[in-house]
Amino acid sequence: MRKILQDENVLENCKIFTMLAEQNPSHVSFHTPGHKVGGWDITELAYSDNLSCPTGCIAAAERDIAKILGAAKSFILTDGSTCGVLSMLYAARALGVKKIAVCEGSHKSVFNGCALLGITPLVYPQKKVAKIPKGDTLSALKADFVDILSEADALFFTSPDYYGNVADLAAARAYCDETGKLLLVDGAHGGHLHFDRNLYAGAYADLWVDGVHKSLPALTQGAVVSARTDELGEKLRLALDIFRTTSPSYPIMASVEYAVKYPRNTALEERVAAFKAACPRVYQNEDWTKLCVVFGDNAFAAAKDAESLGLYSEFCDGNVVTFYLSPATRNEDLDVLFATLDELLKKYPLDKNVKNDVERDTSPCVLPKDRTTEWVELTAAAGKICARTCGLFPPCTPLIKMGERITAEKIELLCKADNVFGLCGNKMEVFAKE
Ligand SMILES: Cc1ncc(COP(=O)(O)O)c(C=O)c1O
Repeated sequence: MRKILQDENVLENCKIFTMLAEQNPSHVSFHTPGHKVGGWDITELAYSDNLSCPTGCIAAAERDIAKILGAAKSFILTDGSTCGVLSMLYAARALGVKKIAVCEGSHKSVFNGCALLGITPLVYPQKKVAKIPKGDTLSALKADFVDILSEADALFFTSPDYYGNVADLAAARAYCDETGKLLLVDGAHGGHLHFDRNLYAGAYADLWVDGVHKSLPALTQGAVVSARTDELGEKLRLALDIFRTTSPSYPIMASVEYAVKYPRNTALEERVAAFKAACPRVYQNEDWTKLCVVFGDNAFAAAKDAESLGLYSEFCDGNVVTFYLSPATRNEDLDVLFATLDELLKKYPLDKNVKNDVERDTSPCVLPKDRTTEWVELTAAAGKICARTCGLFPPCTPLIKMGERITAEKIELLCKADNVFGLCGNKMEVFAKE
Protein backbone atom coordinates (compact mmCIF):
# COMPACT_ATOMS: atom_id res chain seq x y z
CA MET A 1 0.00 0.00 0.00
CA ARG A 2 2.79 2.44 0.91
CA LYS A 3 4.41 1.63 -2.45
CA ILE A 4 1.35 3.22 -4.09
CA LEU A 5 0.81 6.05 -1.62
CA GLN A 6 4.46 7.12 -1.55
CA ASP A 7 4.51 10.88 -1.99
CA GLU A 8 4.99 12.19 1.55
CA ASN A 9 4.11 15.76 0.58
CA VAL A 10 0.72 14.61 -0.67
CA LEU A 11 0.13 12.31 2.30
CA GLU A 12 0.76 15.12 4.78
CA ASN A 13 -2.53 16.63 3.68
CA CYS A 14 -4.56 13.40 3.41
CA LYS A 15 -7.17 13.07 6.14
CA ILE A 16 -8.02 9.39 5.74
CA PHE A 17 -4.36 8.36 5.54
CA THR A 18 -3.60 10.38 8.69
CA MET A 19 -6.38 8.61 10.58
CA LEU A 20 -5.03 5.21 9.44
CA ALA A 21 -1.43 6.12 10.26
CA GLU A 22 -2.34 7.30 13.76
CA GLN A 23 -4.17 4.15 14.84
CA ASN A 24 -3.39 2.63 18.21
CA PRO A 25 -0.36 0.32 17.54
CA SER A 26 -1.72 -2.24 20.01
CA HIS A 27 -5.10 -2.41 18.24
CA VAL A 28 -6.43 -5.98 18.41
CA SER A 29 -9.16 -6.83 15.91
CA PHE A 30 -12.35 -8.39 17.18
CA HIS A 31 -14.19 -6.89 14.23
CA THR A 32 -14.38 -7.48 10.50
CA PRO A 33 -12.55 -8.24 8.25
CA GLY A 34 -11.91 -11.82 9.21
CA HIS A 35 -8.21 -11.79 8.35
CA LYS A 36 -7.64 -10.06 11.77
CA VAL A 37 -4.46 -8.42 10.59
CA GLY A 38 -5.66 -4.92 11.45
CA GLY A 39 -3.56 -2.19 9.89
CA TRP A 40 -5.20 -0.33 7.04
CA ASP A 41 -7.93 -2.77 6.14
CA ILE A 42 -10.32 -1.96 8.96
CA THR A 43 -14.03 -1.34 9.26
CA GLU A 44 -16.21 1.43 10.71
CA LEU A 45 -14.84 1.91 14.24
CA ALA A 46 -15.18 4.65 16.83
CA TYR A 47 -12.34 6.64 15.25
CA SER A 48 -12.51 5.67 11.56
CA ASP A 49 -15.66 7.53 10.42
CA ASN A 50 -18.25 6.02 8.10
CA LEU A 51 -18.50 6.53 4.35
CA SER A 52 -22.27 6.19 4.25
CA CYS A 53 -22.82 9.03 6.73
CA PRO A 54 -19.46 10.73 7.26
CA THR A 55 -18.75 13.29 9.96
CA GLY A 56 -15.01 12.92 10.56
CA CYS A 57 -11.93 12.30 8.41
CA ILE A 58 -13.97 10.99 5.45
CA ALA A 59 -16.23 14.05 5.48
CA ALA A 60 -13.15 16.28 5.56
CA ALA A 61 -11.58 14.33 2.67
CA GLU A 62 -14.76 14.61 0.60
CA ARG A 63 -14.89 18.38 1.24
CA ASP A 64 -11.28 18.73 0.05
CA ILE A 65 -12.02 16.60 -3.03
CA ALA A 66 -15.09 18.68 -3.93
CA LYS A 67 -13.01 21.84 -3.65
CA ILE A 68 -10.30 20.47 -5.95
CA LEU A 69 -12.81 19.21 -8.49
CA GLY A 70 -14.97 22.34 -8.37
CA ALA A 71 -18.08 20.45 -7.22
CA ALA A 72 -20.82 21.43 -4.78
CA LYS A 73 -20.60 17.88 -3.44
CA SER A 74 -18.27 14.95 -4.14
CA PHE A 75 -18.59 11.39 -2.89
CA ILE A 76 -15.77 8.88 -2.61
CA LEU A 77 -16.60 5.56 -4.29
CA THR A 78 -14.97 2.22 -3.58
CA ASP A 79 -17.10 0.38 -6.13
CA GLY A 80 -15.68 1.86 -9.30
CA SER A 81 -17.19 4.30 -11.75
CA THR A 82 -19.92 1.72 -12.33
CA CYS A 83 -21.46 2.77 -9.01
CA GLY A 84 -21.09 6.42 -10.02
CA VAL A 85 -22.83 5.88 -13.35
CA LEU A 86 -25.73 4.01 -11.73
CA SER A 87 -26.06 6.73 -9.08
CA MET A 88 -26.05 9.55 -11.64
CA LEU A 89 -28.80 7.79 -13.59
CA TYR A 90 -30.82 7.24 -10.40
CA ALA A 91 -30.47 10.92 -9.49
CA ALA A 92 -31.52 11.93 -13.01
CA ARG A 93 -34.55 9.63 -12.84
CA ALA A 94 -35.49 11.13 -9.46
CA LEU A 95 -35.47 14.52 -11.16
CA GLY A 96 -37.91 13.29 -13.80
CA VAL A 97 -35.58 12.17 -16.59
CA LYS A 98 -37.25 9.42 -18.62
CA LYS A 99 -35.25 9.48 -21.86
CA ILE A 100 -31.56 9.98 -22.20
CA ALA A 101 -29.44 10.47 -25.33
CA VAL A 102 -26.44 8.18 -25.19
CA CYS A 103 -23.82 6.96 -27.64
CA GLU A 104 -23.79 3.28 -28.43
CA GLY A 105 -20.09 3.15 -27.53
CA SER A 106 -20.86 3.93 -23.87
CA HIS A 107 -19.88 1.61 -21.05
CA LYS A 108 -22.23 -1.27 -20.26
CA SER A 109 -23.11 0.27 -16.86
CA VAL A 110 -25.07 2.98 -18.69
CA PHE A 111 -27.30 0.49 -20.48
CA ASN A 112 -27.66 -1.65 -17.37
CA GLY A 113 -28.57 1.43 -15.31
CA CYS A 114 -31.20 2.53 -17.82
CA ALA A 115 -32.72 -0.96 -17.84
CA LEU A 116 -32.79 -1.10 -14.02
CA LEU A 117 -34.27 2.35 -13.58
CA GLY A 118 -36.80 2.39 -16.41
CA ILE A 119 -34.98 5.09 -18.37
CA THR A 120 -35.22 4.81 -22.16
CA PRO A 121 -31.75 5.13 -23.67
CA LEU A 122 -32.03 6.96 -27.01
CA VAL A 123 -28.98 5.33 -28.52
CA TYR A 124 -27.08 6.80 -31.43
CA PRO A 125 -24.32 4.90 -33.25
CA GLN A 126 -20.67 5.69 -32.70
CA LYS A 127 -18.72 7.38 -35.44
CA LYS A 128 -15.40 5.85 -36.49
CA VAL A 129 -12.73 7.43 -38.63
CA ALA A 130 -10.15 5.03 -40.07
CA LYS A 131 -11.58 2.43 -37.65
CA ILE A 132 -10.91 4.58 -34.56
CA PRO A 133 -14.00 5.44 -32.52
CA LYS A 134 -14.58 9.19 -32.20
CA GLY A 135 -15.98 10.95 -29.16
CA ASP A 136 -19.49 12.20 -28.57
CA THR A 137 -20.20 15.67 -29.86
CA LEU A 138 -23.20 17.90 -29.60
CA SER A 139 -22.59 19.11 -33.14
CA ALA A 140 -22.85 15.51 -34.44
CA LEU A 141 -26.06 15.05 -32.49
CA LYS A 142 -27.46 18.27 -33.93
CA ALA A 143 -26.41 17.31 -37.45
CA ASP A 144 -27.35 13.64 -37.58
CA PHE A 145 -29.63 12.79 -34.68
CA VAL A 146 -31.69 15.88 -34.05
CA ASP A 147 -34.78 13.78 -33.23
CA ILE A 148 -32.90 12.03 -30.45
CA LEU A 149 -31.60 15.35 -29.18
CA SER A 150 -35.01 16.96 -28.98
CA GLU A 151 -36.72 13.89 -27.48
CA ALA A 152 -34.14 13.38 -24.70
CA ASP A 153 -34.62 14.89 -21.22
CA ALA A 154 -30.92 14.53 -20.53
CA LEU A 155 -27.63 14.03 -22.37
CA PHE A 156 -25.13 11.39 -21.29
CA PHE A 157 -21.60 11.86 -22.61
CA THR A 158 -18.45 9.84 -22.06
CA SER A 159 -15.43 12.13 -21.83
CA PRO A 160 -12.65 11.31 -22.24
CA ASP A 161 -13.21 7.87 -23.71
CA TYR A 162 -10.86 4.92 -24.02
CA TYR A 163 -9.21 6.55 -27.01
CA GLY A 164 -8.62 9.91 -25.30
CA ASN A 165 -11.40 11.68 -27.23
CA VAL A 166 -12.79 14.59 -25.25
CA ALA A 167 -16.40 15.59 -25.91
CA ASP A 168 -17.36 19.19 -26.82
CA LEU A 169 -18.74 19.74 -23.35
CA ALA A 170 -18.85 23.54 -23.53
CA ALA A 171 -21.37 23.31 -26.39
CA ALA A 172 -23.32 20.64 -24.52
CA ARG A 173 -23.45 22.85 -21.41
CA ALA A 174 -24.73 25.80 -23.42
CA TYR A 175 -27.38 23.60 -25.05
CA CYS A 176 -28.50 22.19 -21.68
CA ASP A 177 -28.69 25.67 -20.18
CA GLU A 178 -30.89 26.76 -23.10
CA THR A 179 -33.19 23.75 -22.94
CA GLY A 180 -33.18 22.93 -19.22
CA LYS A 181 -31.87 19.41 -19.85
CA LEU A 182 -29.47 17.64 -17.53
CA LEU A 183 -25.90 16.94 -18.59
CA LEU A 184 -24.34 13.76 -17.21
CA VAL A 185 -20.72 12.92 -17.97
CA ASP A 186 -18.95 9.62 -17.50
CA GLY A 187 -15.37 10.66 -16.81
CA ALA A 188 -14.26 7.17 -15.79
CA HIS A 189 -11.09 7.84 -17.79
CA GLY A 190 -10.65 11.48 -16.87
CA GLY A 191 -9.86 11.80 -13.17
CA HIS A 192 -6.61 13.61 -14.07
CA LEU A 193 -8.33 16.23 -16.22
CA HIS A 194 -9.26 18.47 -13.29
CA PHE A 195 -5.84 20.02 -13.90
CA ASP A 196 -7.17 21.42 -17.16
CA ARG A 197 -10.62 22.96 -16.72
CA ASN A 198 -11.18 23.28 -20.49
CA LEU A 199 -11.16 19.52 -20.86
CA TYR A 200 -12.59 18.55 -17.48
CA ALA A 201 -16.13 17.12 -17.16
CA GLY A 202 -16.63 18.91 -13.85
CA ALA A 203 -16.38 22.31 -15.51
CA TYR A 204 -19.57 21.60 -17.47
CA ALA A 205 -21.63 18.66 -16.20
CA ASP A 206 -24.51 18.63 -13.71
CA LEU A 207 -23.40 15.22 -12.50
CA TRP A 208 -20.14 13.50 -13.33
CA VAL A 209 -17.98 10.60 -12.30
CA ASP A 210 -14.18 10.59 -12.12
CA GLY A 211 -12.65 7.14 -12.26
CA VAL A 212 -9.52 8.03 -10.36
CA HIS A 213 -8.13 4.48 -10.43
CA LYS A 214 -7.67 4.58 -14.20
CA SER A 215 -5.51 7.66 -14.69
CA LEU A 216 -4.47 8.71 -11.18
CA PRO A 217 -2.56 6.70 -8.55
CA ALA A 218 -5.54 5.16 -6.71
CA LEU A 219 -6.27 1.52 -5.99
CA THR A 220 -8.50 -0.30 -8.46
CA GLN A 221 -12.20 0.58 -7.93
CA GLY A 222 -11.39 4.03 -6.54
CA ALA A 223 -13.65 6.70 -8.03
CA VAL A 224 -15.53 9.90 -7.19
CA VAL A 225 -19.00 11.01 -8.20
CA SER A 226 -19.82 14.71 -8.01
CA ALA A 227 -22.67 17.17 -8.38
CA ARG A 228 -22.73 20.76 -9.55
CA THR A 229 -25.35 21.93 -7.02
CA ASP A 230 -26.33 20.98 -3.47
CA GLU A 231 -29.75 19.83 -4.68
CA LEU A 232 -28.20 17.44 -7.20
CA GLY A 233 -25.75 16.33 -4.52
CA GLU A 234 -28.62 15.39 -2.27
CA LYS A 235 -30.14 13.21 -5.00
CA LEU A 236 -26.76 11.55 -5.49
CA ARG A 237 -26.48 10.87 -1.78
CA LEU A 238 -29.82 9.01 -1.83
CA ALA A 239 -28.72 7.06 -4.90
CA LEU A 240 -25.46 6.01 -3.26
CA ASP A 241 -27.39 4.68 -0.31
CA ILE A 242 -28.81 2.13 -2.74
CA PHE A 243 -25.92 1.30 -5.05
CA ARG A 244 -22.80 1.25 -3.00
CA THR A 245 -21.40 -1.44 -0.79
CA THR A 246 -21.96 -1.25 2.96
CA SER A 247 -18.39 -2.49 3.45
CA PRO A 248 -16.27 0.14 1.71
CA SER A 249 -12.54 -0.51 1.68
CA TYR A 250 -10.45 1.95 3.75
CA PRO A 251 -7.32 1.42 1.65
CA ILE A 252 -9.37 2.35 -1.46
CA MET A 253 -10.90 5.40 0.26
CA ALA A 254 -7.47 6.59 1.40
CA SER A 255 -6.08 6.07 -2.09
CA VAL A 256 -8.90 8.08 -3.70
CA GLU A 257 -8.14 11.08 -1.52
CA TYR A 258 -4.42 10.67 -2.24
CA ALA A 259 -4.99 10.37 -6.00
CA VAL A 260 -7.16 13.48 -6.25
CA LYS A 261 -4.52 15.43 -4.29
CA TYR A 262 -1.66 14.05 -6.41
CA PRO A 263 0.14 16.83 -8.30
CA ARG A 264 0.19 17.42 -12.02
CA ASN A 265 3.25 16.03 -13.84
CA THR A 266 3.83 18.66 -16.50
CA ALA A 267 7.28 17.36 -17.49
CA LEU A 268 5.82 13.93 -18.27
CA GLU A 269 2.92 15.47 -20.19
CA GLU A 270 5.42 17.40 -22.31
CA ARG A 271 7.47 14.28 -23.06
CA VAL A 272 4.37 12.42 -24.20
CA ALA A 273 3.19 15.39 -26.29
CA ALA A 274 6.58 15.52 -28.05
CA PHE A 275 6.51 11.77 -28.82
CA LYS A 276 2.97 12.03 -30.14
CA ALA A 277 3.77 15.02 -32.29
CA ALA A 278 6.74 13.21 -33.84
CA CYS A 279 4.93 9.94 -34.52
CA PRO A 280 2.17 9.99 -37.12
CA ARG A 281 0.99 6.52 -36.08
CA VAL A 282 0.03 7.72 -32.63
CA TYR A 283 -3.61 8.81 -32.60
CA GLN A 284 -3.73 12.58 -32.06
CA ASN A 285 -6.21 12.76 -29.18
CA GLU A 286 -6.66 15.46 -26.53
CA ASP A 287 -5.85 13.32 -23.50
CA TRP A 288 -2.14 12.73 -22.89
CA THR A 289 -2.70 9.65 -20.69
CA LYS A 290 -3.98 7.53 -23.59
CA LEU A 291 -1.21 6.63 -26.01
CA CYS A 292 -3.09 4.93 -28.84
CA VAL A 293 -0.76 3.44 -31.42
CA VAL A 294 -2.14 2.27 -34.75
CA PHE A 295 -0.87 -1.16 -35.88
CA GLY A 296 -3.80 -2.13 -38.11
CA ASP A 297 -4.19 -5.88 -38.63
CA ASN A 298 -0.95 -6.47 -36.72
CA ALA A 299 -2.25 -4.89 -33.52
CA PHE A 300 -2.62 -8.15 -31.56
CA ALA A 301 0.84 -9.30 -32.69
CA ALA A 302 2.37 -5.96 -31.66
CA ALA A 303 0.64 -6.09 -28.26
CA LYS A 304 2.00 -9.63 -27.73
CA ASP A 305 5.53 -8.52 -28.71
CA ALA A 306 5.32 -5.69 -26.19
CA GLU A 307 4.12 -8.16 -23.54
CA SER A 308 7.05 -10.46 -24.24
CA LEU A 309 9.25 -7.53 -23.16
CA GLY A 310 7.15 -7.01 -20.05
CA LEU A 311 5.19 -4.03 -21.38
CA TYR A 312 1.48 -4.59 -20.82
CA SER A 313 -0.90 -2.25 -22.62
CA GLU A 314 -4.41 -1.40 -21.43
CA PHE A 315 -6.12 -2.92 -24.45
CA CYS A 316 -5.95 -3.82 -28.10
CA ASP A 317 -9.01 -3.48 -30.32
CA GLY A 318 -7.58 -5.29 -33.34
CA ASN A 319 -6.36 -2.02 -34.88
CA VAL A 320 -4.97 0.15 -32.10
CA VAL A 321 -2.88 -0.79 -29.06
CA THR A 322 -3.49 1.65 -26.21
CA PHE A 323 -0.93 2.29 -23.48
CA TYR A 324 -2.28 4.01 -20.38
CA LEU A 325 -0.16 6.60 -18.60
CA SER A 326 -0.68 8.63 -15.44
CA PRO A 327 1.13 11.38 -13.53
CA ALA A 328 2.78 8.51 -11.61
CA THR A 329 4.27 6.89 -14.73
CA ARG A 330 8.04 6.71 -14.27
CA ASN A 331 10.33 8.40 -16.76
CA GLU A 332 12.51 5.31 -17.07
CA ASP A 333 9.46 3.20 -17.99
CA LEU A 334 8.48 5.75 -20.61
CA ASP A 335 12.02 5.51 -22.07
CA VAL A 336 11.54 1.75 -22.51
CA LEU A 337 8.06 2.18 -23.98
CA PHE A 338 9.14 4.78 -26.53
CA ALA A 339 12.18 2.72 -27.60
CA THR A 340 10.02 -0.40 -27.94
CA LEU A 341 7.38 1.46 -29.95
CA ASP A 342 10.04 2.75 -32.32
CA GLU A 343 11.04 -0.88 -33.00
CA LEU A 344 7.50 -2.22 -33.26
CA LEU A 345 6.40 0.56 -35.62
CA LYS A 346 9.26 -0.42 -37.94
CA LYS A 347 8.51 -4.13 -37.60
CA TYR A 348 4.81 -3.67 -38.39
CA PRO A 349 4.41 -1.06 -41.14
CA LEU A 350 0.85 -0.05 -41.92
CA ASP A 351 -0.95 -1.37 -44.94
CA LYS A 352 -1.01 1.63 -47.30
CA ASN A 353 -4.37 0.58 -48.69
CA VAL A 354 -6.24 1.28 -45.45
CA LYS A 355 -8.59 4.17 -46.11
CA ASN A 356 -9.58 6.96 -43.78
CA ASP A 357 -13.23 5.93 -44.04
CA VAL A 358 -15.81 7.60 -41.87
CA GLU A 359 -18.39 5.09 -40.72
CA ARG A 360 -21.12 4.58 -38.18
CA ASP A 361 -21.97 1.02 -37.24
CA THR A 362 -25.68 1.20 -37.88
CA SER A 363 -26.35 -2.55 -37.94
CA PRO A 364 -30.10 -2.74 -37.27
CA CYS A 365 -31.24 -4.54 -34.14
CA VAL A 366 -34.22 -6.85 -34.52
CA LEU A 367 -35.69 -8.85 -31.67
CA PRO A 368 -37.54 -11.91 -32.95
CA LYS A 369 -41.06 -12.63 -31.66
CA ASP A 370 -39.91 -15.89 -30.12
CA ARG A 371 -37.30 -14.90 -27.53
CA THR A 372 -36.06 -18.45 -26.87
CA THR A 373 -32.29 -18.42 -26.81
CA GLU A 374 -29.48 -20.92 -27.05
CA TRP A 375 -25.71 -20.87 -26.47
CA VAL A 376 -23.70 -21.77 -29.55
CA GLU A 377 -19.98 -22.04 -30.24
CA LEU A 378 -18.50 -18.76 -31.48
CA THR A 379 -17.47 -20.51 -34.67
CA ALA A 380 -21.13 -21.32 -35.37
CA ALA A 381 -22.59 -17.93 -34.44
CA ALA A 382 -22.04 -15.92 -37.64
CA GLY A 383 -25.32 -15.21 -39.42
CA LYS A 384 -27.44 -15.67 -36.27
CA ILE A 385 -29.05 -12.91 -34.18
CA CYS A 386 -27.24 -11.99 -30.97
CA ALA A 387 -29.29 -12.43 -27.77
CA ARG A 388 -26.75 -10.96 -25.30
CA THR A 389 -24.67 -7.86 -25.96
CA CYS A 390 -20.99 -8.70 -25.91
CA GLY A 391 -17.62 -7.18 -26.69
CA LEU A 392 -13.97 -6.84 -25.83
CA PHE A 393 -13.02 -6.37 -22.16
CA PRO A 394 -11.81 -3.66 -21.93
CA PRO A 395 -13.27 -1.39 -23.26
CA CYS A 396 -16.56 -2.99 -22.17
CA THR A 397 -18.53 -1.23 -24.88
CA PRO A 398 -20.87 -3.20 -27.15
CA LEU A 399 -19.25 -4.88 -30.14
CA ILE A 400 -22.27 -7.03 -31.03
CA LYS A 401 -25.57 -5.79 -29.62
CA MET A 402 -28.60 -7.80 -28.66
CA GLY A 403 -30.74 -8.08 -31.78
CA GLU A 404 -27.83 -7.52 -34.17
CA ARG A 405 -27.05 -10.00 -36.96
CA ILE A 406 -23.62 -11.45 -36.13
CA THR A 407 -20.89 -11.07 -38.74
CA ALA A 408 -17.87 -13.33 -39.25
CA GLU A 409 -15.60 -10.27 -38.94
CA LYS A 410 -16.80 -9.45 -35.41
CA ILE A 411 -16.54 -13.10 -34.37
CA GLU A 412 -12.94 -13.12 -35.57
CA LEU A 413 -12.21 -10.09 -33.38
CA LEU A 414 -13.80 -11.73 -30.32
CA CYS A 415 -11.73 -14.87 -30.95
CA LYS A 416 -8.49 -12.89 -31.11
CA ALA A 417 -9.07 -10.90 -27.90
CA ASP A 418 -7.57 -12.01 -24.58
CA ASN A 419 -10.62 -10.92 -22.58
CA VAL A 420 -14.27 -10.45 -23.49
CA PHE A 421 -17.63 -9.85 -21.80
CA GLY A 422 -21.11 -11.24 -22.54
CA LEU A 423 -19.84 -14.69 -23.59
CA CYS A 424 -19.69 -17.92 -21.62
CA GLY A 425 -16.38 -19.58 -22.41
CA ASN A 426 -16.34 -19.91 -26.19
CA LYS A 427 -20.09 -19.74 -26.47
CA MET A 428 -22.40 -16.92 -27.40
CA GLU A 429 -26.10 -16.51 -26.68
CA VAL A 430 -28.22 -16.25 -29.82
CA PHE A 431 -31.93 -16.36 -30.60
CA ALA A 432 -32.90 -19.91 -31.44
CA LYS A 433 -35.65 -18.98 -33.95
CA GLU A 434 -36.28 -16.03 -36.21
C1 LIG B 1 -16.33 4.70 -19.97
C2 LIG B 1 -16.40 3.86 -18.75
N1 LIG B 1 -17.34 4.12 -17.83
C3 LIG B 1 -17.46 3.40 -16.71
C4 LIG B 1 -16.61 2.36 -16.45
C5 LIG B 1 -16.76 1.57 -15.18
O1 LIG B 1 -15.67 1.80 -14.37
P1 LIG B 1 -15.25 0.82 -13.18
O2 LIG B 1 -14.62 -0.36 -13.84
O3 LIG B 1 -14.33 1.65 -12.36
O4 LIG B 1 -16.49 0.45 -12.46
C6 LIG B 1 -15.61 2.05 -17.38
C7 LIG B 1 -14.71 0.91 -17.13
O5 LIG B 1 -13.90 0.53 -17.90
C8 LIG B 1 -15.53 2.80 -18.56
O6 LIG B 1 -14.62 2.52 -19.50
